[in-house]
Amino acid sequence: MSNQHLYLNLYENLKQQIIEGQYQSEDKFPSKRALSQHLSLSNTTIEHAYQLLLDEGYIYSKPRSGYFVSDIETLPIINRNSPHMNYSINQETSYNNIEDDGNNAETLAFNLSEIDAEYFPMQQFRKYARDAFEDDQLSLLQRTNPKGEWQLRQEIAHYLFNSRGVTCHPEQIIIGSSTEQLINLVTDILKKPQFYIENPSYPPIKKILDKKQINYKQISVEKTGIDLDEFKKHNYNAVYVTPSHQFPTGYVMNLKKRTQLIQWAQQSEQRYIIEDDYDSEFRYFGKPIPALQSLDTKDKVIYISTFSKSLYPSCRMAYLVLPKNLSSRYDKLSNKESNTVPAHLQKMVASFMESGSFERHLNKMRKVYKAKLKFIIDTLTPYQEQLEVNGAFAGMHFTLTVKNGLTLEECLERAKEHNLKIIPFNVYDNDLSEVKFILGFGGIPFSKLEKHTNALINTLINH
Ligand SMILES: Cc1ncc(COP(=O)(O)O)c(C=O)c1O
Repeated sequence: MSNQHLYLNLYENLKQQIIEGQYQSEDKFPSKRALSQHLSLSNTTIEHAYQLLLDEGYIYSKPRSGYFVSDIETLPIINRNSPHMNYSINQETSYNNIEDDGNNAETLAFNLSEIDAEYFPMQQFRKYARDAFEDDQLSLLQRTNPKGEWQLRQEIAHYLFNSRGVTCHPEQIIIGSSTEQLINLVTDILKKPQFYIENPSYPPIKKILDKKQINYKQISVEKTGIDLDEFKKHNYNAVYVTPSHQFPTGYVMNLKKRTQLIQWAQQSEQRYIIEDDYDSEFRYFGKPIPALQSLDTKDKVIYISTFSKSLYPSCRMAYLVLPKNLSSRYDKLSNKESNTVPAHLQKMVASFMESGSFERHLNKMRKVYKAKLKFIIDTLTPYQEQLEVNGAFAGMHFTLTVKNGLTLEECLERAKEHNLKIIPFNVYDNDLSEVKFILGFGGIPFSKLEKHTNALINTLINH
């Protein structure tokens, strides 16, 4: 056993003896020398264990008298053997049991919001995690800039300029824990906003607007993007769009519409566009399309993106680029949520970006996801009369419309028989008249891609 384990073990044992009442408050505790001899442990091991007990208040020292046991009733003790701990272990076990539905066959899921974790450069990331906790990072223990770590905001500004054509100063960037949180913040920054949102759209947007009782109109999405003609029927001042890869349809807004949308915003001082560029890192076919923000010369685009796709979804880190003219409104906002991402994580991601690892990771993942998408599309191509693929240019999802007469219920019934999990598109679009599914492929390992795709064909093809 290493020295570290020895002193931690000793500390745990002594602590437990105090908690269990083997020592009473004010009892004299054994001297370090006596214990060292009794247990045949080195002075250093005893010294470290006593120091922990002293630091946590289980014992105290009296000059020239030795160590005594404290009144532990006053300590916030967390007893590792308490029934509460057992309870939470059981909870975890039963949670896993819920996942296991008793059917031993493997579920073949086309889940959304999963990345391919196998390719994540854990070793490099771990290095930046270690660096972030080095002694000279003590400043990271304090509350820092409410907008986020400066180094990270600088890296994001560089990255956005180089990869998406977004021009901004790090001062305009705000780090948040999710896209949803940042959209919520934007609705606080805008004056009396009334929204146009895409129909169908990313569900959190409706949730936020409903909750805050903000007026909105749902505008249909065509293959070229949101239907701008509909804007003429109302006089709303904000629009939320996902131009690079519309969620959930996967359509890409064309340049003409992008220009028209910017012109619409420029027609009034109060108008703003919220551009959610959530998976733009992964565009596989055709020319890269710069962000809408890059076409804007009049500070009309509020740009939002996330690390959920480009790094990993559980890191909970997204970023907002405010036009300069809205920065002061943000500064003056009272009761705003800030510092929602731990500074250490921000530091890790900043170092990861600064070292070039982020760019290398994206380049690698773009190839991985492109190969997966190509495999699925190529395998489905012979069935294109029955299955229409849409939105398969970018990101980690596409849609599949079933055109062979099978009903949604029939498809779902057959999916069950093939242990296939697919999400019906009407989850996002209540008025849908077609039989359509939204399929996420990012998280399916290469080794299982064929099995998944075959299950899809066996389920949806009508022989
Ligand atoms: C349109 C859209 N925006 C943003 C996100 C990511 O959100 P978050 O940053 O909260 O993980 C997603 C995730 O799938 C999305 O579909």
